[in-house]
Amino acid sequence: MIRKAIIPAAGYGIRNLPVTKSIPKEMFPINGRPTIDYIVEEAILAGIEEILIVLSRNKNDIMNYFDRSIELECFLESRDKEHLIPSITPPKINLQYIRQHEALGLGHAVMLGEAFAGKEPVAVLLPDQVSLQRKSMLLPLIKSYEQYQRSVLGLQRVKPELLSSYGVVSAKELNSRLYSIQSIVEKPKHNPPSDLAIMGRYILKPDVFKWLKETKPGIGDEIQLTDALSKLCKTSGIVGYQYTTRWYDTSIEEDYIEVQQQAYRMKRRK
Ligand code: UTP
Repeated sequence: MIRKAIIPAAGYGIRNLPVTKSIPKEMFPINGRPTIDYIVEEAILAGIEEILIVLSRNKNDIMNYFDRSIELECFLESRDKEHLIPSITPPKINLQYIRQHEALGLGHAVMLGEAFAGKEPVAVLLPDQVSLQRKSMLLPLIKSYEQYQRSVLGLQRVKPELLSSYGVVSAKELNSRLYSIQSIVEKPKHNPPSDLAIMGRYILKPDVFKWLKETKPGIGDEIQLTDALSKLCKTSGIVGYQYTTRWYDTSIEEDYIEVQQQAYRMKRRK
């Protein structure tokens, strides 16, 4: 049973400047809802009960979005627009927040969740990776965790020319879609070990925090989650689950346009 999830959302969003100077990329809308709302929904659909969102100073909009707005609710009531209230009601889940004072990297952001996770395995969802599936993309990872009792990574086959933007694994197939991870290379410039890239969904056992604390800044001078995961595959072992569904990376302009078009088409079909 995985009850807790961490959503790291404290990065600067440099690829999406200038808008991310004041609007967090996690608040970019898809069908009028912020991207991070889809991510929280995905966690809830997988049975997650508590979420820790890692924020930075200029990301208070995210906290405000998930809070109640009693004034707006009263206003809607007074204008006979009560039907809109459910759309502004916070999700029914225990949401917690922590500030990352400096953008020291994804690994550092996850490390801030140590006390929150305690002795339990924890799901990690990167909020710029979205799939529009109606079922939670975390569920197959949770199932793999239950089967192998090891940390689990979501994987996807990626075109060779795009591999240098991802963490890429070398892996041995266990059975269809499931792999035993041998090693991980972050953003390989040459000779990627395979075409299987990490897709922004993880189930991490508590020993990850021990490795994160020992991890020194790596590529981009940031504490990389993948460096700690490399240690994990050599010790307690990691399983990879290969997704075959379409993922959208909202930091990439083409993907962001495409996810909006696809979400709009799905809404029209309803
Ligand atoms: P990214 O590298 O995709 O996001 O990190 P970024 O740093 O915001 O964007 P660029 O690369 O500058 O354009 C993946 C996730 O990890 C979070 C980000 O907010 C994003 O959701 N992150 C990254 C942190 O929470 N803290 C960090 O120090 C770095």
